[in-house]
Amino acid sequence: MTTAPLPRQPADPSATPADRVPLWGPEFAADPHAVYARLRDYGACAPVELAPGVNATLVTSYRAALDVLHDTETYSRDPRVWQDTVPADSPVLPMMMWRPNALFNDGETHARYRQAISDCLSLIEPHELRDVTHRAADTLIQTFAADGRVDLVGQYAAALPLLVFNDIFGLPDAHGPGMVSAMGRMFDAASPEDAGSALVEIERYLRDLVALKERMRGQDVTSWLLDHPVGLTADEVVVQLLTATAAGYAPMSSLISTVLSRMLSDPRYYRTISSGALTSGDAIAEVLWNDPPLANYSVHYPRRDVDLHGTWIPRHTPVVISYTAANTAPADLPPGPRSDSGAHLAFAAGPHACPAKQPAVLIAGTAIDRLTGWLCDVEIAVPYDQLTWRPGPFHRSLTALPARFTPIAPDQKGTSPWTVSPPSPARAPGRPGTAPRSAPRDARHDG
Ligand code: HEM
Repeated sequence: MTTAPLPRQPADPSATPADRVPLWGPEFAADPHAVYARLRDYGACAPVELAPGVNATLVTSYRAALDVLHDTETYSRDPRVWQDTVPADSPVLPMMMWRPNALFNDGETHARYRQAISDCLSLIEPHELRDVTHRAADTLIQTFAADGRVDLVGQYAAALPLLVFNDIFGLPDAHGPGMVSAMGRMFDAASPEDAGSALVEIERYLRDLVALKERMRGQDVTSWLLDHPVGLTADEVVVQLLTATAAGYAPMSSLISTVLSRMLSDPRYYRTISSGALTSGDAIAEVLWNDPPLANYSVHYPRRDVDLHGTWIPRHTPVVISYTAANTAPADLPPGPRSDSGAHLAFAAGPHACPAKQPAVLIAGTAIDRLTGWLCDVEIAVPYDQLTWRPGPFHRSLTALPARFTPIAPDQKGTSPWTVSPPSPARAPGRPGTAPRSAPRDARHDG
């Protein structure tokens, strides 16, 4: 990618590979906000590459994003026509290929899957979800609490959502570690074959789980899906669980680690952990606005050639919404409140908006508060600007978040984060400069 100014003209769908801006390389991962700033020079939409040779139109304007997200007549979510034009081993297919679930279907089919998953998620009581998250957090914290150092991505944020999902899906505890390891292998796979074999393993866990719940129902999402009045088959329940796991795992894990990276390196949050200036809720809101875990997604396919805010887009080609660019677009917003009450787009909007918005924010906030409750002097072990981010067009996630703290013994009998006397924070005031690279936007909405 060059740093030369981009042409001030609408995105041209016939743009050559050299004109298209790659969203898959290390430059984009290192500083996506600089790339979004340049992409805005094209207007509301820009020509991008999601992977080498995979072209798409990226919507960077908040207003245009809302127009697409709400327009089910012009745009379909079904990728099958486009999919037939892409090599079977394309790295974007795991995130973009058709499946019988809510994400990749329109109309009544979408409504049926969505209703089932939304209804079942809404049956989870917030206080139970908080307890489940506490248990998951404690299990993980106990594995590194005595060490005094930890990678908060690998040892905490990447594992916690799966432990929570296992619990709410009703997966027997003995299967938890296997599921966590298979999911880790799927996301870190060195090759499409490795990812494929990890996926097969995950599907096997979920099939066994559905078979178990068919024999014996419990108070869990799997049993509720089997009994839902829309009448899902056992195979469909497996796909819905897989979708929820895949759709929820990576963004949950990124939200927890990105928020922790901000809290542990931004002086405005410096006192939060011990005495509270800005809270984890403020940090979550800031990240959802400025650096959402799913940066670009909501892939739409025009049913006919369309003109979107001045950009001509051929039918059946992918139109991707940049939640990050839309959230942070400065001149895009009309004066006064936004048309949808000023919400950020981190959970998208319209009929496919995330049905797990509230539980996701609750899990993230609980996981962060539990960690900082136990490790009250935890601090980042490398400067913020030396943290590295995974490459890829869709997710915004850290590769690692090294941290240090005074070792504790949380498995000591009769103690809990709230009954044990936490060590007093040993940090000197005004820690050396590890502030985030760009001044964060004000927190306005916690999702
Ligand atoms: C911080 C965490 C999360 C973020 C940022 C997030 C974000 C999103 C976004 C942006 C979409 C829209 C995708 C699209 O239009 O293509 C979406 C959809 C979805 N999310 Fe989430 N999500 C999170 C957590 C979860 C969790 C925990 C679950 C379930 C356990 C979940 C289940 C789903 C499902 C099933 C859909 C598809 C909805 C539909 O197409 O009607 N998400 N999510």
